[in-house]
Amino acid sequence: MPTQLNEVPEALLSDFDIVEDSGLFVDPQQRLLDSLVKDPRDVVYTPHNGGHWLVTSHELGREILSNAELFGSFPIGIPANMAQRPRLIPLESDASEHRRYRRLLLPIFEPTAVDRLRMGAETLAAEVLDEVLPTGEFDFLWKVAKPISMGLFVRQLGLEPERLDEFYAWETGFYRAPSMEERVACGEKIGGYLFEVVRRHVEQPSDDIVGMLLDVEVEGEKLALEEVHAICYLLFLASIDTVATMLSFIIRHLARDKILFENLKADRSKIADSVDEFLRMHAFINLNRICEQDTEFHGAQFKAGDNIVVPSFVTDRDERTFSDPDTFNPERSKKERNQHHAFGAGAHKCIGLHVAKMEVRVVLEAFFDRVSSLELLSEKAVTGHGGTTMGLDTLPIKVTLD
Ligand code: HEM
Repeated sequence: MPTQLNEVPEALLSDFDIVEDSGLFVDPQQRLLDSLVKDPRDVVYTPHNGGHWLVTSHELGREILSNAELFGSFPIGIPANMAQRPRLIPLESDASEHRRYRRLLLPIFEPTAVDRLRMGAETLAAEVLDEVLPTGEFDFLWKVAKPISMGLFVRQLGLEPERLDEFYAWETGFYRAPSMEERVACGEKIGGYLFEVVRRHVEQPSDDIVGMLLDVEVEGEKLALEEVHAICYLLFLASIDTVATMLSFIIRHLARDKILFENLKADRSKIADSVDEFLRMHAFINLNRICEQDTEFHGAQFKAGDNIVVPSFVTDRDERTFSDPDTFNPERSKKERNQHHAFGAGAHKCIGLHVAKMEVRVVLEAFFDRVSSLELLSEKAVTGHGGTTMGLDTLPIKVTLD
């Protein structure tokens, strides 16, 4: 039986609600800075969202994420939205199965394969920016970040671009619709639609990611149709919106830091290293693991079935791992630069990270090619949310062009 509130020593109790705390809707990052980053305790328990632990030190977070046997990844979510959906592959697979899936998937997401996606990304970024930037004032998230990143996602998977709004509504509804029934209904829509997509690809083979999943073969092994469906489901949740979220945090950062904006505009060769530093400073996934057996963990008694949340934004601001963590410094040592948890750590570290970084770089380069000044229209108009995947919901900006 998982930990009950009355079993937790008072010294380890926290009242922080990582999904519904009102400050998260104003600014999720500032709220985490004011709450969990400031809290000197490395491990606390909160009764909210079904009750879960929060592990906020970078080192202890890594310890959890690197031990897939003791800290399993099924089910994912705070709390998990599980009904009527397949067990997500490879994220929720058992450790032994997981190795097989990673082997099958790696060829699809390796850097050389990603290079082939670059031209499509450059073309779409240029099209969207050339249409939107001349208007001068617009919401970056809705007019630029989402159309580009979601547009790329639907092309990569061979989905219908004209249904983008629907896909976005299902994905946000899956995580954040007001009631569990609505969340489950969104999950059913995603599952049903992707089932049709896989079937269509079997009938009409194509060279997009779904086509590759159906074809991929390593040492004579192929994926079953249900496995392809469960992978597509995860890709839908993992990649439809993540790049847009990262881009919106980066553009807000640049709008607030004029010197950095000028420096990157003047020297584009610095963009590549800056992307990792942006990722560290703006990590937005609140990772979670399920404890597989009763365990003493650095002074806390975890029980089998406990949900353990590792908020990557908080671990990546740990001054014991990152010197001066609240300062943007693209010249960090290689060791510091590669340690961030924006893409997780251990066996489940994001397999799409090369795709994600390529897309972020392409959009930033195209943005700097065209924009000479950037500011937020109003700090107060920017809103956001917490939960499994934190993000901004609006980002009104003003630009002038070269
Ligand atoms: C900035 C954008 C992105 C961020 C911040 C991000 C973050 C993450 C994180 C933190 C994990 C680990 C989850 C866990 O351990 O519980 C993960 C896993 C994963 N991501 Fe991403 N992701 C991004 C973009 C993408 C893209 C574009 C794709 C696909 C094209 C993708 C596909 C996946 C997959 C398949 C997994 C599961 C890997 C496994 O279980 O072995 N992600 N991602």
